[in-house]
Amino acid sequence: MTAVEQARALIARMTLAEKAGQVSQAFAVPFLPPVDQAVAEGRLGSLLFVPDPARINQYQRLAVEQSRLGIPLLFGFDVIHGLRTIFPVPLGLAASFDPGLVEQAQAAAAAEARASGIHWAFAPMVDIARDPRWGRIVEGAGEDPHLGSEMAAAQVRGLQGAAIGTPGRVIAGPKHFLGYGAAPGGRDYEPVSLSDAEIRNVYLPPFEAAIRAGAGNIMSAYMDINQQPAVASKSLLDDLLRGELGFDGFVVSDANGVQNQVAQHFAADEAEAAARALLAGNDMEMALGPNAFARLPELVEQGRVPEAVLDRAVERVLVAKIRMGLFDHPYVDEGEAARVLAEPAHRQLAQQAAERSLVLLHNREGALPLTPGAARRVAVIGPLADSVADTLGPWVFVPDKAETVTVARGIAERLAGVAEVTVEPGVQLRRAIASGLEAFGPPQRAWTDAEAEARFAAAVTAARAADQIVLVLGEAQSQSGERASASDLKLPGEQLALLDAVLATAKPVVLVLLAGRPLDIGAILPRVPAVLMAWYPGTRGGTAVARALFGDVNPGGKLPVTWPRSVGQVPIHYARSHTHTPDRAGSLYHDAPSTPLFSFGHGLSYTSFRLDPPVLDQPVLAPGGAVTVSTRVTNIGTLTGDEVVQLYVHQRAGRAMRPARELKAFQRVTLAPGESREVRFCIDGETLSYWNASERRTLLDPGRFDLWIGTSAEAELHLELTVA
Ligand code: NOJ
Repeated sequence: MTAVEQARALIARMTLAEKAGQVSQAFAVPFLPPVDQAVAEGRLGSLLFVPDPARINQYQRLAVEQSRLGIPLLFGFDVIHGLRTIFPVPLGLAASFDPGLVEQAQAAAAAEARASGIHWAFAPMVDIARDPRWGRIVEGAGEDPHLGSEMAAAQVRGLQGAAIGTPGRVIAGPKHFLGYGAAPGGRDYEPVSLSDAEIRNVYLPPFEAAIRAGAGNIMSAYMDINQQPAVASKSLLDDLLRGELGFDGFVVSDANGVQNQVAQHFAADEAEAAARALLAGNDMEMALGPNAFARLPELVEQGRVPEAVLDRAVERVLVAKIRMGLFDHPYVDEGEAARVLAEPAHRQLAQQAAERSLVLLHNREGALPLTPGAARRVAVIGPLADSVADTLGPWVFVPDKAETVTVARGIAERLAGVAEVTVEPGVQLRRAIASGLEAFGPPQRAWTDAEAEARFAAAVTAARAADQIVLVLGEAQSQSGERASASDLKLPGEQLALLDAVLATAKPVVLVLLAGRPLDIGAILPRVPAVLMAWYPGTRGGTAVARALFGDVNPGGKLPVTWPRSVGQVPIHYARSHTHTPDRAGSLYHDAPSTPLFSFGHGLSYTSFRLDPPVLDQPVLAPGGAVTVSTRVTNIGTLTGDEVVQLYVHQRAGRAMRPARELKAFQRVTLAPGESREVRFCIDGETLSYWNASERRTLLDPGRFDLWIGTSAEAELHLELTVA
């Protein structure tokens, strides 16, 4: 019997209430009413937020042994950048420009999840984000559809393996369909207006890539898009996602997304919300409170929802359970979990991922790397210097905290025996406004005024006594992520005052940033010789940062987002279309350049590289053909290092305005001093085609195209290609 036949045979035996149960998912968390009874009665098909194998087995026993049909539960969890071993946040992983590494990281995360009894990760988050005010920019791969697509596919391959049901892997659930990242003002959950062309050419490609990689689930988005909640959009879910993209897995709503249609003043009541969500194409409802989908039996009886539509949703959920092998092996081996969660190879991978995600933003006169032992007394100062939570970042629930290496600890371990390391936070970082999500992780206690004064003074004393200062500034994890949008990009809290006081000591300083978004550091750059962007680097983050600061590893990450000079430039991204004036010189504002502080793709190294003028194997792209552009990259410095060679394209004229530049390919290479490598990129019709709004289809405009090869969106080596 195929999985579909097996599911249908089961559906034929199910009551309406059991069907509604299969498509209902609930949070099993201590601060909500227990779900045991509902599981035992077959009123829930899936639980989320249970990371503990023993509890998973308990719930599973209720489902398998007590519910009438014994259908096992599917367990989902936010495994976004690791479970026990925490990898850099997804924006940091994207900065590695290394899809192979990202795939490995997510495979390790999947192994830990699956060993814990989790079957499904609500990941990857593949929302394109072009506004760093939006807190959730940290969860995705940044602003670019091509990089976003590469990262989306890599994460699906890593999480899920070659097919659903691969041992040691989980179902991947790309989210949030669709356009969530376009939040105006960067305000989380805000209604989004997007043209069809933006949807197709910018926001959809990462989902297409994820689906091509086999993603078994998709999560619909919260906000309203073009005047309709995404969760209720049949045109998005049924027509675009299933019809056009051919997605054949199951769609889950975001938490309470179904009920929210009432709060959004779209559905009149809970029952209508349930009907509209199911009819639009959601197959499962994720809910924090009572499930609106519990109303489905009465909706079917009243003729408001055809039973066949409910059956279709149940079938998709059951097929996922069957493919995951849950009917044969519903339980998890609790002993195995401990072994997999302790896996040293995962820690090693987390360190490698953190190292490869580091972006050296600024390095005047080779201020970095530092020489170990050159300074006898090193002060590591800042609110993020020794904070475990802020080293790990958001979407972390069961990390190994004792094992987490903060920047301060990483430096102390690196300098053991050669220098004395002191650590002072100086100031405390706290949200000005609560998120409303405190039940998931209560905020830390605020310092009293006296404590704050004493801590600040202690940091200044430590700075004065040091020969070298490493400042670790940025934003706390509670200031990044969901419901953590920012109206300003300046360093939050009293960090600028701390920076001033530390710089006033006239001691040598380098700056490490921990943050989930680009911050406004334009005024700081002239004052510090070096800035290393570390994102939230995860379990081994501090080791990675210390190794980079002291030259054991050479930073080679690149920015997956354009880094603005100030919040006033936002939204800003490199792939804008031309205006009627040549605006790249930066004449769009009267009071500031319109160029960013750092371009998309920017990132320095301790060594230097030369790119040879690129060559095309043929000047004309024939219909159905392909051309190859190649260049040679040489390490002309004295240290081994990495460069990311990037290809950008631009269409000179055509049937639509196209971006002035678009990334189409990249390759990260590691080269020893003097070593060189040929890098080749293939360009075919698909590379240069786009979705045209007037003709409502994907097409390729013939004519002349510019190609640039380089090491950021400012790439200068130019070629011309004609499309016949
Ligand atoms: C809400 C978030 O939007 C979504 O990304 C997440 O997976 C769910 N909550 C579950 O935690």
